[in-house]
Amino acid sequence: MSNIHQELLTRPTYVEIDMQKVTHNFHEIKNQLDGQKMLCIVKGNAYGHGIIEMSGQFEKLGADYLGVAIPEEGVELRRAGIRTPILVLSAISDRQIPVCIQYDLTITAPSDEKLEQIDKAAEVFGKRAKVHLKIDTGMGRIGVNWQRAEKFIPVIQKCNHTDFEGIYAHFAKSDEESDFTEVQIERFDRVIEMFKNNGYEFNLIHHANSGGILFHEKARYTMVRAGIVLYGLFEGRTVPESIHLQPVMSWKTEVVYFKYLEPHIGIGYGHHFSSDTGTRIVTLPVGYADGYQCAMGPQGKVIVNDIMYPIAGRICMDQMMIDIGPHGEAYKGDEVILVGESANQKITFFDIAGWSDTSIYELLSQISYRVPRIYINQ
Ligand SMILES: Cc1ncc(COP(=O)(O)O)c(C=O)c1O
Repeated sequence: MSNIHQELLTRPTYVEIDMQKVTHNFHEIKNQLDGQKMLCIVKGNAYGHGIIEMSGQFEKLGADYLGVAIPEEGVELRRAGIRTPILVLSAISDRQIPVCIQYDLTITAPSDEKLEQIDKAAEVFGKRAKVHLKIDTGMGRIGVNWQRAEKFIPVIQKCNHTDFEGIYAHFAKSDEESDFTEVQIERFDRVIEMFKNNGYEFNLIHHANSGGILFHEKARYTMVRAGIVLYGLFEGRTVPESIHLQPVMSWKTEVVYFKYLEPHIGIGYGHHFSSDTGTRIVTLPVGYADGYQCAMGPQGKVIVNDIMYPIAGRICMDQMMIDIGPHGEAYKGDEVILVGESANQKITFFDIAGWSDTSIYELLSQISYRVPRIYINQ
């Protein structure tokens, strides 16, 4: 388990990750494809699910590639024994190039200047660099603008220490119903055609993230990059009926303290909660330093003994209080579900994201190192 001290495993706050569901989602996406390769995105600690464990699972399942954001994530995977090709997706600084070459990480070249630097570093290092060119077809983040993609050509011609394995772009709106995704696809097609006319063909051509995979068959080229769907989630549009995703993660804690709160007594920072009639309060050992959103405010709820209860007052860094009502029953050690299901109740990451006005991506990647990841059904 990465970044978690062994002692933390006794912590009563943890997330549970169901490996059978990971396998199910992987096959569900793979079955949509028509022989294209699949890159599994594991950046951001695999969207909070644990980068080493998820990468190991995807490798076992036959992933063709893994995608990380920063070289350090790739190094962590190599040191853990992962052999699958790894693409570093973000723009890197010059001083990070040697580490990518040393650890056999494929580098994204988002500009012609960076490509020149990569080739020079490879020469100095005495090893070949692996590169995917990045084209900006409309995301506007990194990459050479699609209208100026020829800029790469004179530089490619000078590169003697680089293998040009792939070319890719990223969608801005594939999770929405928008014509812009088709516009991006057309632009990318023109870039690929331009390279072809100049005698360059790439093995790995990729544009589709989860939204692209689910809704744009034309965007699949020779590889797709699957992220959030592998973890069983997708936000923005309804997933097509033919695809059944299973959310992989649930989040649990337990009651560690119980008290009776007298009427009109404020509790927590700023005394944002009090009760007119008096109530029972339980305290949970989880807070915003665990990634549990403090922005949630009074809308936030948890499940205790199959009953949904509201959060009382502001979430603290490490603890929070729950109002179980004047007659509520909950005892120290009772399980509390922050995300997941009981017999009659359910809280999803979409609920938490809605209550705290954030996205599921932010929510997942902010679950902190100190929340143990427990893997079930391995
Ligand atoms: C370059 C790139 N490709 C693919 C993905 C995966 O996106 P999603 O999780 O929507 O599938 C991301 C995620 O942000 C990304 O930055």
